[in-house]
Amino acid sequence: MKTIIEPFRIKVVEPIRLTTADERRELLKKAGYNLFALHADDVMIDLLTDSGTSAMSAEQWAAIMRGDESYAGSPSYYRFESAIRELMPFPHIIPTHQGRAAEAILFSIVGGPGKVIPSNTHFDTTRGNIEGSGATAVDLVIDEAHDTGLDHPFKGNMNLARLEALLESEGANVPLVMLTVTNNAGGGQPVSLENIRAVAEIAHRFGKPLFIDACRFAENAWFIKCREPGQDSRSVPDIVRDMFAVADGMTMSAKKDTFANIGGWLAMRDDELAAAARNRLILTEGFPTYGGLAGRDLEAIAVGLREIVDEHYLHYRVRTNEYIGERLVAMGVPIVTPVGGHAVFVDARRFLPHIPPLQYPGQALAAALYEHGGVRSCEIGTVMFGLRPDGSEAPAEMDLVRLAMPRRVYTQSHADYVVEVFGEILKVKDALPGMRITWQPRQLRHFTARFEPIAA
Ligand code: F0G
Repeated sequence: MKTIIEPFRIKVVEPIRLTTADERRELLKKAGYNLFALHADDVMIDLLTDSGTSAMSAEQWAAIMRGDESYAGSPSYYRFESAIRELMPFPHIIPTHQGRAAEAILFSIVGGPGKVIPSNTHFDTTRGNIEGSGATAVDLVIDEAHDTGLDHPFKGNMNLARLEALLESEGANVPLVMLTVTNNAGGGQPVSLENIRAVAEIAHRFGKPLFIDACRFAENAWFIKCREPGQDSRSVPDIVRDMFAVADGMTMSAKKDTFANIGGWLAMRDDELAAAARNRLILTEGFPTYGGLAGRDLEAIAVGLREIVDEHYLHYRVRTNEYIGERLVAMGVPIVTPVGGHAVFVDARRFLPHIPPLQYPGQALAAALYEHGGVRSCEIGTVMFGLRPDGSEAPAEMDLVRLAMPRRVYTQSHADYVVEVFGEILKVKDALPGMRITWQPRQLRHFTARFEPIAA
């Protein structure tokens, strides 16, 4: 059969409140044109993030009832730990309340002034935690990643020559090498198994551990299966095990590829680092068998980890985003191709060439998507990455708008609706105004900055 059906039925539904464009214009103005400031019930299709927004399965909800809330040694922790170890063979698994808590603990130990931490592309919270410690975050993704229209199967790959050069010149200051799978900030693009192994080989040659930021590990493994020579007959769990076999640790947000609404972990091989991390954990998150989580959350993660590597799910998951992407391309909307695992990334700089990067074409497009269709998306561009630690501002590498698909939440008619909203925007796009920031914080400004449209 050609039709790829959602491989689940719907048992519980949440109503969507339908709003008018006039209503949304007012709400947008009140929110300072920052979509994070909207009330979620004023949003019709919420593609702000795929993080923590998944629909859990009946089995996950059932597991929640089994959650054991013992302060220490909860059986829920041991189920969580063993579900992780089936895929990621780390001796030390430290639960945290979400991914950034794992990052904060890791970089409070290995970061600090003068340290340099390379990755393909650091996500904003990773960069924020590294810079917050006084260290420098360096992005070394392959050059092909910067050409949004270029077709390349593994646009998330690390540039190996640049990694090697950095380790040669700055080696003494590099505590570890990171690799983000899939590469969220670079368009949700996968990293090949070959590249993961090569990054590990280089890191280890220089005596550096490799830590994988693994938020979307299952989507990455699916792309390896579909695109990497010699991998198509292998099972997704086997590919996942290979991805982590060469790593020395990982940070994880369980809000992505475990279908959980909260949670994360930090894992590693090194005993000394683990002891330091657990000490820090006790100060900031909680006892090492629950971290920042309830026992019930650990159960939901353990079940979700087994569901996320299901190939029928991953096939449907990746196809949903491809479907939206193909239709946008056919309409002439420039997007990052190939389409990423968790989201379609629209190239707002190319879509709205009359808006210069420092007038935030991504923010302008995100505002228009909300105004015209009640669709909430997320700018990943100069608003998110343009503010430097010294307070100066520069255009980001790209100005993208991310349409991130919550897992198992929306159906094909929701996808068709999103495409139709783009059709409306195509009619008015040349008149869309750029944005000016009227207030911003000093770090991670995209969450709370306020904007106003720049009058023509
Ligand atoms: N690393 C990556 C690659 C991420 O995408 C995220 C979160 C994190 C780390 C931090 O995890 O949210 O659990 O603290 N990304 C979300 C997003 C917020 O919308 O892409 P967290």
